[in-house]
Amino acid sequence: MIKDVLDISLDIKADEFVKFYLKLVNRNLNHLGTHSENTASVSLSLAKSMGYKAADIKLLKYGALLHDIGKLFTPAEILNSSRALTGIEFEIIKTHTLFGYEVLDSFKSFPEEIKYFAVKHHYRHGFGYPKPLIYDNGVETLIDILTVADSFSAIMEPRVYKNNVTPEGTFEIMSDETNEKNKGLNKDVMGHLKYLIDDNKINLKGFF
Ligand SMILES: [Fe+2]
Ligand SMILES: [Fe+2]
Repeated sequence: MIKDVLDISLDIKADEFVKFYLKLVNRNLNHLGTHSENTASVSLSLAKSMGYKAADIKLLKYGALLHDIGKLFTPAEILNSSRALTGIEFEIIKTHTLFGYEVLDSFKSFPEEIKYFAVKHHYRHGFGYPKPLIYDNGVETLIDILTVADSFSAIMEPRVYKNNVTPEGTFEIMSDETNEKNKGLNKDVMGHLKYLIDDNKINLKGFF
């Protein structure tokens, strides 16, 4: 199993690994590279708007760029599917959070918190997945920022199965609290997102 294969200690700097990862996904899974960079860009804008310090912002940058690394283990035909996913395919997609945790946990020289961004970015305080998650990692609000930025980027970006959406339209979609996917989004972070959109401070790659 993958856990045995990865049960080794690797002495690689996080910066070096992030560059390698982005080169890999930008070459082979282009939308994932663009999405990772967009999610990081929105995350950093939000963190700056919320007054976070440089050390937290750096941690968030690593966490956002690597948050979907577990998708390297998702079959490409599911990731690139242009039709609605079946229930089983969606369950397979969900495992990217756990694979992401396992991969990042194998790099002992990385900041300890990075793996929590990967495993918890869809958790949404128990409204999302995977559950149950019983540990508290001390970076909850940074993960809340990543969760909002991830959702925002994913809705805005074009995919093979959908067109891009404007920032205003995306915010409206995310504000619909009757939609299960929006439950557990941090309201304070959403307020800062609105401020950034109104101020024209959101600029994403990959379209327009
Ligand atoms: Fe994800
Ligand atoms: Fe994502």
